[in-house]
Amino acid sequence: MSDAYDELPYTDHAYAEVHPDRLAVVARLSGWTAPAVATARVLELGCGRGGNLLPISSAMPGASFVGVDQSARQIDEARALAGAAGLANVTFHAATFEGAPLEHGFDFVLCHGVVSWVPAATRRALFAKMASVLAPGGVAHASFNVLPGWYERLAARDWLRFASGHERGSADAAATLDWLRARVPPERAGYKDGLAAVARRIAETEPAYVAHEYLAREQHPELVARVIAEAEEAGLTYLGDAIPQATAFELLDDAVTTRAAAMGAADAQQLVDFVTGASFRRALFVRTDEASARGWRWPRRLDPAALAGLRVASRLQPEAPDASAAADAVERFRAGELTVEIADLHARRALRALARVTPASLGWDDLARDAGGGSALTTELFDAWLATGALDLHAFAPKLATFPSRHPRACPFARLRAARGGALTNAWHQEVVLPAPIVREVLACADGTRTDEELAAAVTASNLTPAERVAAVRKSLLILASLALLVD
Ligand SMILES: C[S@@+](CC[C@H](N)C(=O)[O-])C[C@H]1O[C@@H](n2cnc3c(N)ncnc32)[C@H](O)[C@@H]1O
Repeated sequence: MSDAYDELPYTDHAYAEVHPDRLAVVARLSGWTAPAVATARVLELGCGRGGNLLPISSAMPGASFVGVDQSARQIDEARALAGAAGLANVTFHAATFEGAPLEHGFDFVLCHGVVSWVPAATRRALFAKMASVLAPGGVAHASFNVLPGWYERLAARDWLRFASGHERGSADAAATLDWLRARVPPERAGYKDGLAAVARRIAETEPAYVAHEYLAREQHPELVARVIAEAEEAGLTYLGDAIPQATAFELLDDAVTTRAAAMGAADAQQLVDFVTGASFRRALFVRTDEASARGWRWPRRLDPAALAGLRVASRLQPEAPDASAAADAVERFRAGELTVEIADLHARRALRALARVTPASLGWDDLARDAGGGSALTTELFDAWLATGALDLHAFAPKLATFPSRHPRACPFARLRAARGGALTNAWHQEVVLPAPIVREVLACADGTRTDEELAAAVTASNLTPAERVAAVRKSLLILASLALLVD
């Protein structure tokens, strides 16, 4: 039987929230100690072409990785890229979840965007496999489409499948949706708006996404409580969400917390989704037997004290170059469009310290010792992390250069991508877009053997004088450093 992903491979992306680092952070905030990240054994189920697993393996040489996908064409691509990148710590299997020759004892199991894309029986087999291969203290990630957010998308999907009369490959899905929208009577404004929202989303994404999401036979968004219950039947217990800001009770109306007070994890999460209208979930699980052995219970709230032992990175920069030492001053910090006003003296000190090393991180214990402020600092920075999204918490420190060295070296996998094409992933496993073609050229050439003058000779900016070229290369290197793409 032909495989849908052999015929049309899926999009090939990295997801920061799927990195074992993030899983370990969420675990800690939920009172669970995950295995060490830097030396972990990591499995990705439904890894596609390796867009997620390959950059992680490249940035974590002390860890080992296994990818499984039943699409032989996608696995061939992943293997070829691993070979080109010289990655010895990653293995790929072209196999089903049930049939893959996997040993047990994975510290982290990743599964992005598969659960809703397979029939119910495969979904159950997938959770059973996850539970059986996960190490006792390990953490698993599964992301999937959910209701109620997907109800309006299902209307668009049913129409697109009806209109195309086949399963894949409508190049003009947005136009097909627009045709219908133009004919829907004005009094059905909600239905019209829903179709328009899907048309906009489709216009922004890749054809493979549209085909496998809106035209494929298998696409089964569910209520999150139902998915959590299925995972529980397989021996997995819900731990938290990989993007805590998306589901945290701390950010919702108090009435929601009150209503959820007597609910278990699955129902409480379902309540959150009804309130937020969620369409996608990134659920983390641990083994139920291990949760019982540890006496662990799902915490309704994240634990700020978990910052101790973690690392913090910040994109916030102080608006004024000189810090005001006045205890009652209010300082403004900016990250892109976001402006944050901070009054607490110790939090201001901490944010300035983080701004000096950005995009690298600082260990919480060093940061807290230097900034002072004790538990008030913990609360201030935890709240800033939760509310602004401009701070990141980490359990792992990748190799990262804040400024270019004499012989700058870029993240090896990003360098390969810069030369061959495809999405670029930085040291934090975030996808980044470069502002100009010359920056991509510099990235491709920055292998740690060339000075900036030698890099200037290697790039093809024929419209620039030699001096302008060196200046453009230096500027490009600063951009690469700010985007966490330099390791030396
Ligand atoms: C929607 S794609 C997601 C790919 C990738 N994880 C991502 O998010 O970009 C679903 C993937 O699951 C794989 N898959 C589906 N059913 C499978 C099964 N029973 N065993 C192994 N892989 C399967 C498909 O081949 C496909 O690559």
